[in-house]
Order: sequence, then structure tokens, then C-alpha cells
Amino acid sequence: MPDRRLLNRRRLLTLGGITAGGILGGAVLLPKGQTPAPGGTGHNGHGVEPVAGTRSIRPETQFSQRMPVPRQLTPTRATGVDLYRIPIQPGQAEFRTGHPTAVRTYAGQFVGPTIRAKTGRPVRVTFTNELDVASNVHLHGGHVPQSSDGHPMDMIAPGQSRTYDYPNTQQGATLWYHDHAHHLEAENVYFGLHGFYIIEDDAEKNLGLPGGPYDVPIMLRDAELDANGALVYPSHPPNRTTILANGVVTPNFPVAARKYRFRLLNAANERTFSLSLGGAALVQIGSDGGLLPAPVVRSEIVLGSAERADVVIDFSGHPIGSHLVLYDVSGPVLRFDVTRAAPDPSVVPAVLRPLPALPPATVERDIAMKFDLSGAEPVALVNGRPYDPNRVDFRVKRGTTEIWHVRNDDVEFGIPHTFHLHLEQFRVLDRNGAPPSLDDAGRKDTIFIAPGETVRVQVTFTDHLGKYVYHCHYLEHSALGMMAQMEVVA
Ligand code: C2O
Ligand code: CU
Ligand code: CU
Repeated sequence: MPDRRLLNRRRLLTLGGITAGGILGGAVLLPKGQTPAPGGTGHNGHGVEPVAGTRSIRPETQFSQRMPVPRQLTPTRATGVDLYRIPIQPGQAEFRTGHPTAVRTYAGQFVGPTIRAKTGRPVRVTFTNELDVASNVHLHGGHVPQSSDGHPMDMIAPGQSRTYDYPNTQQGATLWYHDHAHHLEAENVYFGLHGFYIIEDDAEKNLGLPGGPYDVPIMLRDAELDANGALVYPSHPPNRTTILANGVVTPNFPVAARKYRFRLLNAANERTFSLSLGGAALVQIGSDGGLLPAPVVRSEIVLGSAERADVVIDFSGHPIGSHLVLYDVSGPVLRFDVTRAAPDPSVVPAVLRPLPALPPATVERDIAMKFDLSGAEPVALVNGRPYDPNRVDFRVKRGTTEIWHVRNDDVEFGIPHTFHLHLEQFRVLDRNGAPPSLDDAGRKDTIFIAPGETVRVQVTFTDHLGKYVYHCHYLEHSALGMMAQMEVVA
């Protein structure tokens, strides 16, 4: 008897080919896994592994370039607010030496400049779009008024500017800003419209964690490069075999023999990173929305698209001259080279920050993500419908606490998704009825959901009113419609 799944998979591949030439580009439907995952992978939600394919980088380039730390912007300080101006402009990146390629940038940098904000001190950023395509900036993980959220329809036309107000009324966290223009987010982010936005608060500062030059954001993503080192797009996700750390292919990063804090972000459009240090400990201290209650020693951390993990790595036990490689299941990502000694007054306290008690939920909702492949063009759906900016899918009352049952219904084709909610951080209650995995810990705004899985999350809608989206953060999926919106009402 022919394997029905296999037949469907062949059909899917064909569809993928058709899609590649379609309006939005990209063979968006291909799952990351070699094999369609059965539903219910149990405790560990990240049941679908990325393809461990051959890497396109030449061996001699591995670890030969240094990983840059994205430039940190200095604000203009006005009374009560930090001001920034960031042009959105065409630029060039060089992923292969001697082969520059066109990219889209914040302020000319493939990994945009970092903004460091402080809890309680607002930030105002004016973005000017110097590209010839529309743009729109979203602060991922930010608790911000609707007018500054980067709602997909609030686009910045070429030549126009828009000012975003970020109140920073949330605790310290590793956030990121990225493009969110309706239907264009996937290609804009792929071409480089992504950067870090880090919030710090006093309580966190007083913990004595590694800081200053020892607090380093690392943006991980993938890319498909052609023979000339140019970014390919539309691009088949499985062909995105080049891994970039802060925009550089498999770089090295010189470190002192002491503790560092690394803020890991998966900024890939659609990929899971399963990160390990070849046996050495990754001490996780934070997730999407800030600090965990206590540090957790991890041998592997799995990050779905748009998820973050803050980790401390202690290089003090490693002799000068030694190397530690950060691996994904697809191969090496980055090599830490221990090059010098340095004093280390930093600590990792046994208690970081307790999570607040969850108020009782009064509303429950179901969210199902699924592709409709019955027509000529694939349609990406949330609760059976593609995104319509003129439709409000849920009305949510300000001040209430809700439980959302978020489901990935793409069992037949084994397509993984990540779920992201704007405006509020949530907590994962359970995964397929079982306790959440360590990758779900803490305050979250994005979670990976394997085919067939259901994740229950609890969220309190605190203050801001208006329309905010929730969507799959596989950006080719959201660009195809796997997005919906709620309106928070008084
Ligand atoms: Cu990072 Cu609506 O996205
Ligand atoms: Cu977001
Ligand atoms: Cu998806």
C-alpha cells in the first residue's frame, strides 16, 4: 500500500515549487523535519529537528572571521525620554569575503544597531524609510501602545518616517525590533531588518550578573547564499544552510577566562536552533520576557523562530588558548576562543526573580494554526481563516486573564509553527497536557508548536487598548495569512 503521507509530501513539494514563483515567494510549506512528526511529541515540544544537511560554507572560512557585537546607539537625552533616529536603508553585507551582497538595513548594519533601554524611562525612535519598499517596525516582546506596536497596516511608505514610543513599563528583557509590513515582513526581515532592543532594570542590575562588555547579544539566523555569496530570496527554507551569528558565517569570538552573559535570539524566518556547547554547561538565566526565577543548567537549548534565551557561560575553567564551539544540530555555529585572563566580580545568584502569581483566568479560547492546501495557492490559516486586517477575531477585555489553547493542526504534512502574541508576555501552563519543557519556562511571547501539539498559555491583558496581532512567527507563514488579531477593549 502506498504511504499516504509520502504521497502527500510529494504533492507538497510540488506545491512548494509552485509557491516559489508565487506572489509572496519562498517554498514556505516545507517542514523543517526530514520526516513528518507524529502528533504529541510529549514533554519536549520541539519534536521536529531541523535538517542536518551539508553546510555550504567552505571549511577554510569556518571560525576565520570574528563575530562583531552589534553597535549600541547613544540616545539624545531629552527630559524624560531617550530619542533615537534610525534610517531604514539599503546596504551591503559580505557573507563571503570579497562578495558583497545587497541587504536591507537599520542604519546600514545587517544586524541593526542595539538600543539599550531602562525600565521606567521611555524611548522614542523615529524610523525613516529610505528603501523602495514599504516597511514598518515592530518591537517584539514589547509592551507598547497600539500606535507604536507596528501593526501590519501601519506601514511606512518609501520616503516617509514614523515615530514609535516605547514606554518601557516592563522588566528587563531581551527584545528585538524587526520589520512587520503587511505581506512583506518575511522578505524584509530575511534581507536584514532586525536588531536588538534590550531593557534593563535596577533589580536585575543589582544581581551582579555579567554586564558591560561581558553582556553580548548574539543574533542567530540562516540564509541561502548563491555561488556569488549573494542572499537568495525567495528561498526554500531547507536551502538556508548558511548559519550566521551576528551576521557572520560561523565566526570566532575571543573571550576572557571568566563569565559572560549571552543573549541568544533566533531571528531566522523559519528554523529551529538546538544549541549545545559540546558538553559544557549553558546556564540559562532568562527567556523571552526576562529573568527566570532561578538559573537552570542546560546541556541543550532549543529556540524556535523569534524565541530568546539569556545564558551565562563560564570560561574560567578553560585554559587560555582553548576553544569552545557552540553547535546547532546542523553543525557548528560559533567558536569561543579563550584568549586572556580577566577579573570576574560577576555572580549568578541562586535566586533571580520570582515569577508573579497568575491571576485566575475567566476566559478560554482556542487557536488553531493550519495550512489549506486544497486550492491552487496555499493559504495559511488561524482558526480557519487567513488574516484580514479589517476583521477583529477576538475581543479581549482589559484587565482580564485568559487561557489560550494553541494548536498546530498541520499533522498531515508535518509542518511546524511558532506562536507569537503581541502586547503581553504569557506563561506556558502545559504542553499536550504534560508539564511544559524547560524551553517553555518563564515569561514567554513566542513558543514552538510541533505538528499535532496543543500548548495552553495563560495571559493577563493589563492596560493598553486596541488591535494587536498574534501569528505564526515562521514569517513566510504569517506573510501568507497565518495571523489574526484581537482588540483589547475597556
Ligand atoms: Cu516578531 Cu508580530 O512579530
Ligand atoms: Cu511581536
Ligand atoms: Cu507557521
